[in-house]
Amino acid sequence: MMLLPNLIARFLATASLLAPKLTSRLAKPVLRLDCNDEFHLAIFSDLHYGEEEDGWGITQDVNSTRVMNNILDYEVPDFVILMRPLVERGLKWASTYGNHDSQYNLSRHALFDEESKNSVSYTQHASKTLGITNYYLPLYPSLSRSDCESPVAILWFFDSQGGAPFQADADSEEIPDWVTPDIVSWFVAERKVLAEKWGPLPSLAFVHIPPTAFLTV
Ligand SMILES: *[C@@H]1O[C@H](CO)[C@@H](O)[C@H](O)[C@H]1NC(C)=O
Ligand SMILES: *[C@@H]1O[C@H](CO)[C@@H](O)[C@H](O)[C@H]1NC(C)=O
Repeated sequence: MMLLPNLIARFLATASLLAPKLTSRLAKPVLRLDCNDEFHLAIFSDLHYGEEEDGWGITQDVNSTRVMNNILDYEVPDFVILMRPLVERGLKWASTYGNHDSQYNLSRHALFDEESKNSVSYTQHASKTLGITNYYLPLYPSLSRSDCESPVAILWFFDSQGGAPFQADADSEEIPDWVTPDIVSWFVAERKVLAEKWGPLPSLAFVHIPPTAFLTV
């Protein structure tokens, strides 16, 4: 669990502004810097909710929720990134999935459908990719800026997959537990489209487990 320092918000705020108008793909307000040109992100990862239902898991979950609530009270972020879905408070949030989000009795698709019903969830699903939660969210300047229709940064989300296939036979193939090359190809292609539209933009990427290369270098 960690909070991004203000430094990143300031970096985003001072990023160069280029490029033409765009239309949001989201049917909800776009993400914007605040009137101080800052954007505060809180990131919660590996929450491990729902373990040991008959034992220590209950207290662990209560403790996790208490810690998160304390952090959210104290930091008051503009946006929350979850490496595991959580719904509350009315704060805008987005998630990306990893190895804890697919099990015999847990469907990633059902999880995504459930998240999509939440009006403050920004979690997206870019089709034609292997995982569910591979997508990006543009971040815009404050409305007080004259150039407020051009994004200042892109938030990328990569699905590192993993876990067990939903309701599958015991001998079925395992799901890769990392960001696969086809997801990387999707990213490279999308980034090119974005660069052509808006010019080069700074980015932040969120992923539960990085590509396998991280394990071997
Ligand atoms: C929950 O928090 C309490 C108080 O800090 C602590 O004593 C307890 O060990 C925690 N329980 C678990 C399962 O982490
Ligand atoms: C899936 O859920 C069913 C019904 O609650 C339960 O009987 C079964 O043990 C669960 N399977 C796994 C692998 O958790």
